[in-house]
Amino acid sequence: MTQHTQDLPPVRALRVAVIVGSLRRDSTTRRIARAAMARAPRGMQCDVVDIGDLPHFNQDLEHEPPAAWMTFRQAIAAVDGVLFFTPEYNRSFPGCLKNAIDIGGRPHGSALWNGMPAGIVSVSPHALGGFGANHALRQTLVYLNMPAMQQPEAYIAMAETLMDAAGTVTRATTDKFLRQYMQAFADWVHLLRSPVLVAAAT
Ligand SMILES: Cc1cc2nc3c(=O)[nH]c(=O)nc-3n(C[C@H](O)[C@H](O)[C@H](O)COP(=O)(O)O)c2cc1C
Repeated sequence: MTQHTQDLPPVRALRVAVIVGSLRRDSTTRRIARAAMARAPRGMQCDVVDIGDLPHFNQDLEHEPPAAWMTFRQAIAAVDGVLFFTPEYNRSFPGCLKNAIDIGGRPHGSALWNGMPAGIVSVSPHALGGFGANHALRQTLVYLNMPAMQQPEAYIAMAETLMDAAGTVTRATTDKFLRQYMQAFADWVHLLRSPVLVAAAT
């Protein structure tokens, strides 16, 4: 039987970092992320962690990391889970997102990503829904030991047809899917994090 977050004893709100792999001002991926965040269940707080100002990862900088790297690492260290929304660039995920993941994964052996529950939503104006980006990212998360929710998968195809100009979701099926996805992700984070949450509260 599936155990939903509302069935579990409330400890504190789950904190989730939302990372968007597009820096574009009018990004469709970001609008989908906002629509999903607005449908998060009670008890899961989602905040966007920006990655646009992160200097390129360079191992030479590791002894004196740029302030933006440290701010990013602190933001990730404070959350219970990470939800990635990614467009697809050339059948993979964009370099800005890889840069953020690389920065979070260093110094080598740092536990920042290790064991962190993750979700992946790929977004595309085309029919394949960013399948290539979704699975390329999934592959990277395997190496980082980030347990990525397997079901439901989220490949948001023809994304520009799902919202109006203001970013409001116009289709009931999309609304329902995003709600179900966010509930499933809350359950996933809770399942993996509840021992930590309970220990912190006692
Ligand atoms: C460099 C580049 C490569 C792209 N490659 C793909 C691709 O492999 N698959 C795809 O579905 N769309 C591809 N696109 C189109 C993007 O899906 C589209 O530009 C989308 O709007 C980007 O997401 P955003 O609106 O969140 O910025 C590519 C776009 C760019 C700029």
